[in-house]
Amino acid sequence: MLHVIPSHQGRPSDDPIFALNKEALARKARGESIVNATVGSLLDDDGKLAILPSAARAVHDVPAEEWAPYAPIAGTPDFLAAVSDDLFRDEPEMRASAVAAATPGGTGALRHAIANYLEPGQSLLTTSFFWGPYQTLCDESDRKLATFTMFDAAGKLDTAALDGALERQIKAQRRSLIFLNDPCHNPTGYSMAPEEWRAVVERLVAHASAAPITLLVDTAYIAYAARPDPRAFLKELRPLLGKVGLAFAWSASKTFTHYGLRVGAIVACVPDAKERAGTDAAFSYSSRGTWSNCSRGGMRAVTKLLTDPALAKSSDVERDELKTLLGARVAAFNVAAKAKGLVYPRYEGGFFVTVFTDDAHDRALRMKEKGVFVVPAKGALRVALCSVAEKDVPRLVDALAE
Ligand SMILES: Cc1ncc(COP(=O)(O)O)c(C=O)c1O
Repeated sequence: MLHVIPSHQGRPSDDPIFALNKEALARKARGESIVNATVGSLLDDDGKLAILPSAARAVHDVPAEEWAPYAPIAGTPDFLAAVSDDLFRDEPEMRASAVAAATPGGTGALRHAIANYLEPGQSLLTTSFFWGPYQTLCDESDRKLATFTMFDAAGKLDTAALDGALERQIKAQRRSLIFLNDPCHNPTGYSMAPEEWRAVVERLVAHASAAPITLLVDTAYIAYAARPDPRAFLKELRPLLGKVGLAFAWSASKTFTHYGLRVGAIVACVPDAKERAGTDAAFSYSSRGTWSNCSRGGMRAVTKLLTDPALAKSSDVERDELKTLLGARVAAFNVAAKAKGLVYPRYEGGFFVTVFTDDAHDRALRMKEKGVFVVPAKGALRVALCSVAEKDVPRLVDALAE
């Protein structure tokens, strides 16, 4: 007899992306020539995980006395301050209202947001293309997930669809939590323009008096944004302060190429001191009730990377090299994909891009037969350029186009 509760029976045993990656690696190990565009980590052109040497050094230099003890439940204060300083470099008002809790990666921050800004049974609202674990996180917390059409006919973020979905949600559940993953959205690669942020903010503020609305910006890929100032969008969010809840999922996974270190944070902007203390308590309670506390050594290393001027500089320089590597793949993709007439969103940079197609699952199967692995979703194929060498991009695009 299966003793797992009925609602948890029949859950898939393996994340579909990890399963595809496993298959690609097995075929490669048998000597086949494989293009594996499924891996969500940045690989160098030899297929090895790209690791910032400065970050590796910072982790290595953390003494045993820092790895062994428990950390405070909410995270070490200097880590939390460093993350808020990093996010809100040019936003003193946001910085002054910030309250943060350490989480195991950005995933933990998303988990805490779902648990604290939605009642059980209520729905999270996000874009129609979204990172699969958003659904898993909702399932796991007995919440649901609703979407709005991500793109309008002009290929821009469909803020009218967001507005309609928000209105329906407020009517149905009297509160709303919205996840927007930007810049370098996973899976589409889309980065919103300032005017799109302004339009989103306008819509949220328009509904703010009707119900508590919270916007969480998932900044997992912020360090890889193609635009010169990846934090410039924050100034567009200023009108939300005090009207609409504002939170951020911050992650060291991509920023410092240490995915397995599991360092992240949820950061909320709460201008009212009493409400800020209440938010702080709710986050800490959630931490105690899930993972208890995060890796103290991991937080120490990341704090050093954020606050030691020499280390921060060298990791920025090293990351710029990775951005150049990724940028060359993006440029090669744009040239080849345009020539082949592939349909995909505006793609300036980031780990992934999504190619629209009606027969995603069949197409992905046909591509797999040719040794090219991508991840099928509804109406689209997710292509992880972060794991494909520039020289393999033409073969990848040919397979996508055939
Ligand atoms: C969109 C998005 N959000 C959040 C994360 C969180 O990653 P982590 O928990 O490693 O910080 C990822 C990782 O792939 C992601 O793609």
